[in-house]
Amino acid sequence: MNILGIDTSCDDTSAAVVVEGRKILSNIVHSQVKLHHPHGGVVPELASREHLRNIMPVVQEALAKAGTGMGDIDGLAVTVGPGLVGSLLVGLYYAKAMSYVNGLPMAAVNHLEGHILSIFLEEDVPEFPFICMTVSGGHTSIYNVKGYGDYLQMGQTLDDAAGEAFDKVAKILGLGYPGGAVIEKLARQGKVDKIDFPRAFLSKDSLDFSFSGLKTSVSLFIRKWKDKEADSGVSLADIAASFQEAVIDVLVAKVLKAAGMMKTDSVVVAGGVACNNRLRKRLKQDASGKGIRIYHPRPSYCTDNGAMIAVAGYRRLLEGHETEMSVDVRSKYPIEDID
Ligand code: KG4
Ligand code: ZN
Repeated sequence: MNILGIDTSCDDTSAAVVVEGRKILSNIVHSQVKLHHPHGGVVPELASREHLRNIMPVVQEALAKAGTGMGDIDGLAVTVGPGLVGSLLVGLYYAKAMSYVNGLPMAAVNHLEGHILSIFLEEDVPEFPFICMTVSGGHTSIYNVKGYGDYLQMGQTLDDAAGEAFDKVAKILGLGYPGGAVIEKLARQGKVDKIDFPRAFLSKDSLDFSFSGLKTSVSLFIRKWKDKEADSGVSLADIAASFQEAVIDVLVAKVLKAAGMMKTDSVVVAGGVACNNRLRKRLKQDASGKGIRIYHPRPSYCTDNGAMIAVAGYRRLLEGHETEMSVDVRSKYPIEDID
């Protein structure tokens, strides 16, 4: 089965052609970073207009790169939520039109399921059940993944997502948007233990997260630090490194705790923040002593992409779950609501 996967949930227009939910023939992503950069974050109205401009060329490019025409496609997979309503609508209505015109089945996909299943685009895949932590700009959650379509959320952020914390702190530090990769780069020159920023572990057994206190703490620190920067002995890189370490300490501790609770030896970390090399290194280090194996999709499968949506849609269509044309987008779409 050749699936055309489409994702327009936030600020990337993406389309991919994937064979049997495993082999990528093409995976095209049109990033809107330059458009939103001056605004310090995604502007929903601008994002949906940009998706409208790009959806057709991106899909055409995905088909051309795959060497396929619509006649070679067996089904469509499209993200219906969670995400920005105006952005989601562009992808969904484009997919509906393609489905109608070409007489193809369509599968509505939960974006979070796409991130969870992105690991199946790699050669080396875990066996069910495994723990998956999705860390992105919009989400930070831990799931017990029992099988395809069978997910139990064990924890989630109570306020900001981890990527959102990176983006907000980058803005405070004057590093621009998006912040994750810039902070990671700057942090390489800094000391991780220079400033003892707070780690919100919440209660002992909690697998929930909270990053807004950390962001406020960095903001307050910067306000004082600015006046005495020269003789403070603390560099901007030290602040970036200490902030990043505070986020990573909590992410690593909680995902390994979840693996211990479920007695599983496989952990997948996906989503944009999973591109972070310090996080990958720390996870590997801390997991090795516990006999836990960490699986990461490569960076281009971690950030939003159409291929991961094709994987999830393929599974749905394989099980006979064709979505009806009346389907609508959902700005909030808890993973438990997948039927
Ligand atoms: O998964 P994604 O592409 O989009 C969402 O679904 O949100 O993730 C984007 C997020 C942004 O917040 C970005 O700052 C963060 O992932 N990110 C990183 C890194 N690369 C991207 N965070 C930390 N370190 C990185 N290297
Ligand atoms: Zn995402």
